[in-house]
Amino acid sequence: MCGIVGYVGEKQALSVVVDGLRRLEYRGYDSAGVAVVSDGSLETRKKAGKLANLESLLGEDPLPQSTIGIGHTRWATHGGPTDANAHPHVSEDGKVAVIHNGIIENFAELRAELSSRGVTLRSETDTEVVAHLLAETLPSTNMNLAEAMRIVCRQLSGAFTLVAVHCDVPDVVVGARRNSPLVVGRGDGENFLASDVAAFIAHTRHAVELGQDQVVELRSESITVTDFDGQPAPTVEYEVTWDASAAEKGGYETFMAKEIAEQPKAVADTLLGRVDAQGQLKLDEMRLSEEQLREIDKVVVIACGTAYHAGMVAKYALEHWTRVPCEVELASEFRYRDPVVGPRTLVVAISQSGETMDTLMAMRYAREQGAKVLAICNTQGSTIPRESDAVLYTHAGPEVAVASTKAFLTQIVATFLVSLYVAQVRQTMSQADIDAVVRELSDMPGKVDLVLDTTEEMKALADELKDSRSVLFIGRHVGFPVALEGALKLKELAYMHAEGFAAGELKHGPIALLEDGLPVIVVVPPPGGGAIVHEKIVSNIQEVRARGARTIVIAEEGDDAVIPYADHLIRVPACPALLQPLVATVPLQVFAAAMSAAKGHDVDQPRNLAKSVTVE
Ligand code: M6R
Repeated sequence: MCGIVGYVGEKQALSVVVDGLRRLEYRGYDSAGVAVVSDGSLETRKKAGKLANLESLLGEDPLPQSTIGIGHTRWATHGGPTDANAHPHVSEDGKVAVIHNGIIENFAELRAELSSRGVTLRSETDTEVVAHLLAETLPSTNMNLAEAMRIVCRQLSGAFTLVAVHCDVPDVVVGARRNSPLVVGRGDGENFLASDVAAFIAHTRHAVELGQDQVVELRSESITVTDFDGQPAPTVEYEVTWDASAAEKGGYETFMAKEIAEQPKAVADTLLGRVDAQGQLKLDEMRLSEEQLREIDKVVVIACGTAYHAGMVAKYALEHWTRVPCEVELASEFRYRDPVVGPRTLVVAISQSGETMDTLMAMRYAREQGAKVLAICNTQGSTIPRESDAVLYTHAGPEVAVASTKAFLTQIVATFLVSLYVAQVRQTMSQADIDAVVRELSDMPGKVDLVLDTTEEMKALADELKDSRSVLFIGRHVGFPVALEGALKLKELAYMHAEGFAAGELKHGPIALLEDGLPVIVVVPPPGGGAIVHEKIVSNIQEVRARGARTIVIAEEGDDAVIPYADHLIRVPACPALLQPLVATVPLQVFAAAMSAAKGHDVDQPRNLAKSVTVE
């Protein structure tokens, strides 16, 4: 959601900034713009639509050469995706340009005050007020743009990352951060600011985390960070563990195709180093003591979208292995219903990006109630792990496609590791049983690799079904969250009606949706995972087929009971019931991507969506 890039150094700022924006395209946006400072004047170009539109504008109306610049991709909140609402926003005197991610909640009040002082606002955005406020404030600070930013930030409420340049302070880029992400890239004679490291990874892997309510003044040779009151602020520096090629398509047609194919490695990397030579789980990095884990009387998982589905899978495993009760809740609902959480609750916040505002707000609320928060996250240095009591990173590498794939599988693996660790500490499983599950988990990268063989089959199926009005997904046990995930993927990528149900719920209402030829995808649990559940779903397949539905059955190798009722049978490698989501989800990801492509949609950047949802 909104991409931000700032640069100061010796290179041509425009190309650094536009390249950075391209690497942030995956975040989702609907307009783009840039500003550079050159020879004491400020110039901006901005355009609704994709980056290509901005680039054509830059071709027709080039910007002057400059070594300092900022750029933005906007995901509209206040005001439609028009040229006028695109960022940067410029003050009336044309001297300061501002870009912003987040929502300034008191913007209406600030707008009214500015208008009463005779300022003309030219856009419908909340952002523009900041440009005017900075222009008004700067002269009183002895032309100190960072100080002006601090003064302005103290007047704002809401969530904001702001980045500004001013033509009278031509060697400085200033950034500010409250709730929305912003990270500094430390270069050699050049420095960067961006929403995430992907924007500058081609130039430097040295990153500096910015904390809450901090302002950073960036010059080519220095990075100065303070709080909003001007006090020096502590920062954390780290090395990004992946390089630019990890965030490129690497020969695949889409990022999503690449990320689906990377899943065996992502699962293996997430397991790596977390079991010692004696088969004992080692999660010291998590920063939760054994005593704290023994005291827990409840686990609450909070997450959104795909991460929420991973949390649903986790519940089955965690309760089975640890006997600790587990609730899974949509982060956006959690804090608004007075939930029962306290010092003996372990809240597990799952987030690929580590920046999802709903999850962040929910975990902050849980901490205020005294709960301990464990983050399961894929993005080093992001806000959610930084504000948590403990963290376990998934090692999926950068996920660029908006539709989450490898993050889902690795989130499941991470929650399984945590569950087994809790079982080890609380001795709710024997060491032999833990070892057996760990062995089964370490077989999963190979099995995920095998299931990728269904890719062509799923593409052919998508081609056949692309004109369907709707697709239903049903499952039981952990197949239920897999069904929800399959439906979510299809909605977000193919823009079609898709719903996931617990198969047992069908006859309580959804069965009325069935009609001739309606595709119903059934996720069948392994027969070895519980004969009753398996038998029940075989009956469910017959029920939907008897009502004319076209059944697409996902079942493990050797499960012959489903053969008579499957119009299409997709085979997945046999594995223990709790681990089946790691293989059963993969064909559904491929199917959704293929449906999207068959309909001519943008697989990596589906309409209206943002990769990282940084507003509530
Ligand atoms: O970064 P997060 O894991 O917190 O994101 C949560 C959801 O926004 C995300 O999983 C979303 O549902 C995906 N686009 C689904 O593919």
